[in-house]
Amino acid sequence: MDAADTRFHTPFGTFNLQRYPARPREPLQAWCAADSLLLEAAAALDAGSRATVVAVNDDHGALALPLAASALWTDSALSALALAGNAARNQSPLPAITWSVATPPPATLLVMRVPKQLAFFTEQLARIATSQRPGTRLLVGGMDKHLSPHTARLLEQYIGPTERHRGERKARVFSARVGGGRSGGCQAEDAGWIRYHCRPLGEELRALPNVFSADRLDGGSALLLEAIGALAPVQRLTDLACGNGVLGLAALAGGLAESVLFCDESAMAIASARDNAQRLFAGRETSVQFHHGDGLLEAQAAAADLILCNPPFHLQHTVDEYAGRRLLSQAARHLTDSGQLCLVANRHLRYLPLLQRHFHQVESMAGDRRFGVWLASRPRR
Ligand SMILES: C[S@@+](CC[C@H](N)C(=O)[O-])C[C@H]1O[C@@H](n2cnc3c(N)ncnc32)[C@H](O)[C@@H]1O
Repeated sequence: MDAADTRFHTPFGTFNLQRYPARPREPLQAWCAADSLLLEAAAALDAGSRATVVAVNDDHGALALPLAASALWTDSALSALALAGNAARNQSPLPAITWSVATPPPATLLVMRVPKQLAFFTEQLARIATSQRPGTRLLVGGMDKHLSPHTARLLEQYIGPTERHRGERKARVFSARVGGGRSGGCQAEDAGWIRYHCRPLGEELRALPNVFSADRLDGGSALLLEAIGALAPVQRLTDLACGNGVLGLAALAGGLAESVLFCDESAMAIASARDNAQRLFAGRETSVQFHHGDGLLEAQAAAADLILCNPPFHLQHTVDEYAGRRLLSQAARHLTDSGQLCLVANRHLRYLPLLQRHFHQVESMAGDRRFGVWLASRPRR
């Protein structure tokens, strides 16, 4: 496959944009038609409206850099790393990062890519409604295949009167001004927590709206929780790609581990795992650590005896095994010599050859129609 073009032509100049993470000869571009339409809509506004721009959910800096945004409001550590790389590549000032768990900084214009999860979009609109001055402009864009039929209604409800721009290149933009929305915004303390009773844990788990499987236990995670009953207790465990923390929390509760490091690239996932750990293990603060970042890169933690992982299968909107593959090689490097990785994955993802590349010994622990659980030992260095 040919490497994707990295020159992004915009009304604000041409930028050299690369994805993060990127493989050699990366075939995917770092922007999409929705980014181009948003930039064209922003260029049509008067310069005063663009005085202070905040980019929202911008994956690789395709909005923040051309608009010289003062900040990026994002849930994703991968997006923050992509922005940093592309700002350096283009000798552009680096916008500040405001994580999704905080309110966005004041702006004259917010330029937003619609996120995948409708509950997260709703929560972001509610926060924008309470944090921005009346009259602040909001441009929202997405690819047709990712837009919900409710996008315009939610904008009307939370932000105010909304204009639906003409669709082009399989993408669409909406514009609105803050003020006149019918729903009150949300304050930090009621920021849309989602709950379910987790049967294997015997406890309620909470998660913020952008967290994987926030309202129910994932089938793969359930199978992994059954399988780990057969493992011997360890001192240090890592819950790699932790989401709400269900795997690591179950390991702590069942006495499988003395301490757990929870890692995720989503700020909402880390906040949720932290919240659950604080509620369920009050007084055991020294047993839990949290790392918000790209897997275990930059994690300042001792090597683990056991890693549990239900790996991601998406990179932003794209289904991509590369997301999980990278975590496997990180896991092999983060284990002690006698450490083990216990991984659950959808059967069609063919993780076995990947595990065999990074570990001398791999055995199947459990499986059903959809998922397989593997135990990989003796990491290859
Ligand atoms: C399939 S979910 C599993 C969540 C949780 N362990 C569970 O079993 O419910 C995968 C998780 O990987 C996270 N993720 C994706 N890419 C990542 C990366 N590079 N580093 C860390 N976490 C990542 C996602 O945010 C998501 O929470």
